[in-house]
Amino acid sequence: MALKAGVATLISMAAAFDLPGLADFGMAAILEFTEEPMAGRSNAKAGLPVVMMHGMGDFGNNPMGMVPLRKLIAETANAYVHSVELCSDPTKLSDCDTQDQSNGFFMTMDEQVDQFARVVRADAKLSGGFNAVGFSQGNTVIRGYIHKYNNPPVKTFLSMHGVMMGVNGLPQCPMSVPGVGPLCRAVDAIVSHAGVYSSFVQNRLAQANYYRDAENLVEYRTHGHFLPYINNEVQGHQNSTYKQNFQSLEKLVLVMAEDDTMVHPKESEHFGYFKDGSRTELVTMRDAPWYKEDWFGLKSLDEAKKIEFHSTPGNHLRFKKDFLVEMVQRYFVTESSVVV
Ligand SMILES: *[C@@H]1O[C@H](CO)[C@@H](O)[C@H](O)[C@H]1NC(C)=O
Repeated sequence: MALKAGVATLISMAAAFDLPGLADFGMAAILEFTEEPMAGRSNAKAGLPVVMMHGMGDFGNNPMGMVPLRKLIAETANAYVHSVELCSDPTKLSDCDTQDQSNGFFMTMDEQVDQFARVVRADAKLSGGFNAVGFSQGNTVIRGYIHKYNNPPVKTFLSMHGVMMGVNGLPQCPMSVPGVGPLCRAVDAIVSHAGVYSSFVQNRLAQANYYRDAENLVEYRTHGHFLPYINNEVQGHQNSTYKQNFQSLEKLVLVMAEDDTMVHPKESEHFGYFKDGSRTELVTMRDAPWYKEDWFGLKSLDEAKKIEFHSTPGNHLRFKKDFLVEMVQRYFVTESSVVV
């Protein structure tokens, strides 16, 4: 109820603003994929279940992307795959395409993580733990779940172009996708109107919850929701469970898009970022304070040789099908699920 009213407010607010330049944002965060899945390996033992989390502007039941992709991953890993939808009503766990699509913008990251947890906990097939694959912002949701819940636990986390260390600049909105244009305009309008760290925006816009302004870290840590907390970078609010949960991963696979124009800086996908105090100078993961001081378990994971880095040519979510198949085979197919 409150959320619906919020969205209506945003859209009507957006209509009141003139927004030049947005038409240039033609890049979709949506993964388009229509290929037919290959034949299944019927006599193999089932692999560990997989959970998929879609990106901004997309929806879990998208017949032009997430659904065929779910089948492809299921065939490749020989496993049950659940493509998570985020509905607005906490008791509704699926079949809400329109809400699922707009909630990627207007449901806060904390609420998205809570709803993700409800969905996976209600699925008995996942009760023994699961592998997770996220696309773009979906990885930020999965990361939040690992820190704050991780019960049932994530074993291997495959991040496809994931927003790991936040963004400094709002992600380009997929304007050209039918139905998404008004949402994009709303996003732009409220941020330019109220400011990204205002409580109005923090309480209403998911992307603001991982906006990490490296030139303004005090503001970000004082007024930002979600990312500063899961990063354990807010003094007095560090939570050792967040760190323990993250370092309990069996494998963290980080895939970056080499020419990503949506996630800024793209190095965030490899847990690098802008150096503290700068919006131009980059710092790699291993040179960054969040790593060196092991704020949330990243260094522990790396020292246990559990982090793998990959990159794909081209822009955001424009990886090849064969690349994803290779990742799934390499990281999700366990010995027990291979036909001998
Ligand atoms: C730390 O996080 C865990 C998991 O989300 C939560 O149960 C616990 O209450 C948190 N502790 C504090 C002190 O906030």
